[in-house]
Amino acid sequence: MSDKREGNVPTPGIPDDAFDDSFDGSFDGTPDDTEETEKVEPVGAPPAGSSSSGRPSLGRPTSMRIRAVEDYPDQELNPYLRGHLDHKPEVLAAEEGKALRGHWQDAFLRPAPLHVEIGPGNGFFLSGMAARHPERNWLGIEIRFKRVVLTARKLRAAGCENGRVLRYDAHYLDDLFAPGEIAALYVNHPDPWEKDKRAKHRLLRRPFAEWICRAVASGGLVRIKTDYRPNLDDFLALCHDLPLRVDFRCDDIAAEGSPWGDDDVRTNYQGKFDERGEPVYGVQLTVL
Ligand SMILES: C[S@@+](CC[C@H](N)C(=O)[O-])C[C@H]1O[C@@H](n2cnc3c(N)ncnc32)[C@H](O)[C@@H]1O
Repeated sequence: MSDKREGNVPTPGIPDDAFDDSFDGSFDGTPDDTEETEKVEPVGAPPAGSSSSGRPSLGRPTSMRIRAVEDYPDQELNPYLRGHLDHKPEVLAAEEGKALRGHWQDAFLRPAPLHVEIGPGNGFFLSGMAARHPERNWLGIEIRFKRVVLTARKLRAAGCENGRVLRYDAHYLDDLFAPGEIAALYVNHPDPWEKDKRAKHRLLRRPFAEWICRAVASGGLVRIKTDYRPNLDDFLALCHDLPLRVDFRCDDIAAEGSPWGDDDVRTNYQGKFDERGEPVYGVQLTVL
């Protein structure tokens, strides 16, 4: 179901038809937002491979994506650049995320187990799970301004006071979380970056696995759904010497049923693959 059919409230200053919720075909990294085309390095940028906090990135050169909105050179290029900040309290700006490291309960005005989804996209999963589990705090981390807004609107429409979405680059997750701060982690259809020369952009790589072992509490769950099997196979292989246990794996969620039963929400991308009759893979890990 698209946003437009959910009766979401238009954002002031942003034309409603700008909320194009359609599948954007970005499996090979084709951008759907202007930010993806930005090339200019910021003044005072941290050294390549580190974030502005000085913590190492998870394997990707530094970019503009963790900059404050006012530091972007062309404010008019992307209406969501400023527009995403109109969606508080659901939306958190990049700088707010860094400041919350170690005390994320402040963002939700209450202590509760912190469940984090990387790349919520249009927000189906995050808002659906937040609605099912009001006893948990739910945080999405999304790089694209437009998708931050879409997710925020879904959280608002679902009445989820326990949901937030942070605009941030997930290659800098050490900026955001103290060791063991995350109770559970979800990654749904991460960009696969299939071509070899782009493989360095993949999230499901060794640095991400090591970060999981730092940031997710012992006993915490990691749930991954993906349409791109090689990425999952490679990731699991390189996790073999880390304190991560594979609880189970499903190689066709539509055919076999969700391994999480009712405690799962079909994502936007998952729906596209279901429609095409192509398998979606799911795996659950536990941090030991
Ligand atoms: C293929 S889409 C999947 C969206 C959604 N999870 C779903 O299943 O429908 C990947 C999502 O991850 C986001 N993303 C990609 N790289 C990211 C990064 N470095 N940090 C945060 N989000 C990222 C994209 O903007 C996009 O929303």
